Amino acid sequence: MKILFTRKLPEKLIEPLKERYTISMWTEENDPMPRELLLKEVADADAIFTNVADQIDKELIEQAKSLKVISTMAVGYDNIDIDEATKRRIPVGHTPGVLSEATADLTFALLMATGRRITEGMDVIRRNEWKSWGPFLLTGQSVYGATIGIIGMGRIGQGVARRAKGFNMNILYHNRSRNPVAEEELGATYCSLEELLQQADYVVLLAPSTPETRRMIGREQFALMKKSSIFINTSRGTNVDEQALYEALKSNEIFAAGLDVFETEPITADHPLLQLDNVVALPHIGSADIETRMVMGRLAIQNIEKGLAGERLIHCVNEELYK
Ligand code: DGY
Repeated sequence: MKILFTRKLPEKLIEPLKERYTISMWTEENDPMPRELLLKEVADADAIFTNVADQIDKELIEQAKSLKVISTMAVGYDNIDIDEATKRRIPVGHTPGVLSEATADLTFALLMATGRRITEGMDVIRRNEWKSWGPFLLTGQSVYGATIGIIGMGRIGQGVARRAKGFNMNILYHNRSRNPVAEEELGATYCSLEELLQQADYVVLLAPSTPETRRMIGREQFALMKKSSIFINTSRGTNVDEQALYEALKSNEIFAAGLDVFETEPITADHPLLQLDNVVALPHIGSADIETRMVMGRLAIQNIEKGLAGERLIHCVNEELYK
């Protein structure tokens, strides 16, 4: 059976598979597999190991006549046509849980970097503009004791809340449903989206990408936020109206933004958001610590092996296939 890997993975992960399967792997580490090649290679594949940068759409799924399992090395699966996969009875595996702490780490890193103007400080030194200690040089916003508003209190949200607790922050959250663990163990207070936006010093967006969350934060929502507030997004770029974000940052309607995700990825250096000093931008590396990525890779491979053996995937998006 053939497994198609759309990205190069460490030999350590692939080696154990070689005896049992035919491996086809795109060997560029950081460039996506060209669409044409992807369509050609998937035609006779029994399994595909994919990631957030591939479009696993209807066209691709229709072309993949032998496909028995789709496995993404990610928790999010908005790049995969789940309905089409389900119609074809192809289980879709993903990697929830194992990346929550790493993503919470990076979310908090962005919060600290924007609040305390870390990258701006580095730029000042790089440009040789640091003349002397200044009483108000690069003054930012307090982190310790501030109010954080977490939109989306899933596993990553709870990880962020745990970190916030260590910083003695007042924790507000908004979610589709109440989260007793966040409330009882972390002291988080549930509130409406409007209340959260009005009160939080740090608004952290962690909602999954769905038709309901598309552009859920736009002009109206930025207008509710305080002038001193900071917006962090480590979920999906499509959850935000980027033009509205740009305007809010440019006009100092909000203080800063820390972004790991964008409406179109990769974002290019000439993008208006990247011309602003009050933006810290990262190339979608929320879960990118070595240990976490190895665990994600291993879990995504296990999902493939289960799928090829006709067994239930460890984490399956379209669980209804098993009913
Ligand atoms: C995910 O897991 O969905 C991330 O965005 C990619 O690491």
